[in-house]
Amino acid sequence: MRLKTLLLIVLVFVTAHGAAALEYVMVATQNTCLLFKVSGKKRLEQLYFGEKLKNAEELKMVNLPTSAAYSTFGTDHTFEAALRAVQLDGNTSTELVYVSSRTEKKSDNLVQTIVSLKDAYYALNVDMYFNAYQKEDVIEQWSVITNNQTKNVTLHNFASSDLSFSASSYYVTQFCGTWADEMNMKEQRLTEGIKIIDSKLGVRTNQFTHPCFLLSLGQEARENDGKVIGGTLAWPGSFQFCFEVDPYKNLRVLSGMNPYASTYTLEKGKSLKTPALLYTYSDAGTGLVSRRFHTWARQYGLKNGNGERSILLNNWEATYFDFDEPKLTQIIDDAAKMGFELFLLDDGWFGNKYPRNDDDAGLGDWQTNTKKLPNGIPYLINECHKRGLKFGIWVEPEMVNPKSELYEKHPDWIITQPNREMLTQRNQLLLDLSNPKVQEFVYNSIDKILTDNPGIDYVKWDCNRYITNSGSQYLPAAKQSHLWIDNAAAILAVMEKVAAKYPKVCFMECSGGGGRMDYGSMKYFDEFWISDNGDPLQRLFTQWGGQYFFPAIGMASHVSVSPNHISGRSTPLKFRFDIAMAAKLGMDLQPVQMTETDKEFSKNAIQTYKDIRSTVLLGDLYRILSPYEHNRTAYMYVSADKKDAVLFNFLVRKRIYPDNENVVLKGLDPQKHYTVREINRESYNNRSRFSEYEGKTFSGDYLMAVGLTFSMQNEYESVVIRIREE
Ligand code: GLA
Repeated sequence: MRLKTLLLIVLVFVTAHGAAALEYVMVATQNTCLLFKVSGKKRLEQLYFGEKLKNAEELKMVNLPTSAAYSTFGTDHTFEAALRAVQLDGNTSTELVYVSSRTEKKSDNLVQTIVSLKDAYYALNVDMYFNAYQKEDVIEQWSVITNNQTKNVTLHNFASSDLSFSASSYYVTQFCGTWADEMNMKEQRLTEGIKIIDSKLGVRTNQFTHPCFLLSLGQEARENDGKVIGGTLAWPGSFQFCFEVDPYKNLRVLSGMNPYASTYTLEKGKSLKTPALLYTYSDAGTGLVSRRFHTWARQYGLKNGNGERSILLNNWEATYFDFDEPKLTQIIDDAAKMGFELFLLDDGWFGNKYPRNDDDAGLGDWQTNTKKLPNGIPYLINECHKRGLKFGIWVEPEMVNPKSELYEKHPDWIITQPNREMLTQRNQLLLDLSNPKVQEFVYNSIDKILTDNPGIDYVKWDCNRYITNSGSQYLPAAKQSHLWIDNAAAILAVMEKVAAKYPKVCFMECSGGGGRMDYGSMKYFDEFWISDNGDPLQRLFTQWGGQYFFPAIGMASHVSVSPNHISGRSTPLKFRFDIAMAAKLGMDLQPVQMTETDKEFSKNAIQTYKDIRSTVLLGDLYRILSPYEHNRTAYMYVSADKKDAVLFNFLVRKRIYPDNENVVLKGLDPQKHYTVREINRESYNNRSRFSEYEGKTFSGDYLMAVGLTFSMQNEYESVVIRIREE
């Protein structure tokens, strides 16, 4: 639909029949429509959410069932409420009525609608915001709750969105795990009552659960068909998704900051802005959900989402804390010779009184360790730059070891409860970011590292623990429960400030692996670290899960040493390279640990990656075989012009007989002709698994109807195919 027409519809309009004029508000993208109606009692109700109809007017012809657009705790206690507030006089109810709505075209692609609601009696306002991204079919929804009363209002629940659904059945997929085992997918059918997906960790909130869900209507989620909603909360703090099915099979989904233990006092004249829920409605399965999120994220969700990415060598798994200048210089030299583009110096470079020689000391003391690095960071930057490599550095600015000068100076800066044992994780404590002085310290730490050492091209920002003992030494007693929200809001503010000052520096978001992956913080980062576990077999699942919401261009994936340090598993170098090349390639394995043959293979693979990089990082993802359901997993990336594609195949489970599963390609142009060639090739008895096809040309039509059939048999076998219009 043309934007002009759309805006006309979005504007409130009046029905032809009935004395009382009904008002409607529509939020629409190219293919989706979310329609609200103002009821006789001036309540805002959700009337419809789904595919865009040719004639939206038809939605108003009969009295379709509706549900509250932003439910409140009050007279009806049937459901969990989006908003539960205690008014200035102690009244525990809220009744919101519709005031007005306005729509503004922010750009060719972005239409913003704001719906204003107000309590029928009290001066408590709620503005519901909707950013409708037209091309990507993504809606971004949040609320702003404002206290215009003469005294404080207490907020107990403050959801960002309150979406309703009506279907014969509901299936929810969550993304969960733990350290080194992130992003596992679990689907379940919802029954009457409540299912909550949440995190209460405050910081590093995704250690056990990611702020993402898939909701499938009427059947289990499928890749290529079916009605599916994908939702993700843009918030690094504790979050909650609450799915509630009533006895009549209606479903409501509340999404937002976790209200658990987070009672918020809203002072007079103040507002609370909730984080945004990003969601998309697909009537063509989960594949479309992912492609929409990827396109959206590259444009709006990641820093430099369509920019360039460098192939990096990280010293972490090779040296851990045990390095010095000559050792690093050797690594830098090897990296340049092998075709890497960036060297990343990980943990262990700082601290003098308490040198960071292990994870038990030095965090917080961001001064270069003069024993390990007598010539400082500038020396290493220069060693990199003169070889044409960029230089990156690791920081963990929100944390402190009790064994540090920072802690000696500021024991009052940490999150802890009085009269309780001080609880560490990985020997460290959290700095209390609700304290403005601490915010300043965190910002200044990074700023100083970057200004003292000009030429740093890349920063890995880590965060290795979550909140326990949730007390703030800064907040007053009555506002201790603000810590959860204030701390998360403060870290976002610091990240924003850093990203604004250093737009050209590439930032990687890391949290002991994938403990912080959300679109609230990700817009200040170019890439993210999805897991510390570089075991390629495990990675098949972690990256598979991660891809549902996050694009390959952000997903750093490194080749590790074999046997793997975490799993102990031994795997071929090719298998490790192939899975890392299915995302943003890097390496933790060091050239000195390699045989000449392995070095040669790696050099070639790095060169090959440079050729396919733009297709993998910027292409459209098509999932073909799931590792959860098949012995082989397969997926492919197709460039926007459909001239180039890369197909990845990995054997997940070795069986006694070869796996001959047919791989039917997707996303190609049926009219084009493509030549297929194996890359990162390995021979089995002097033959490639793919030799039957090698170098032959097929139509897109054939590849998407008949597909490719070749066997895979050995443990940890992978086959990567380049499909190119030539
Ligand atoms: C975390 C990160 C790792 C590494 C270490 C350093 O665990 O996830 O990649 O940087 O910290 O201490």
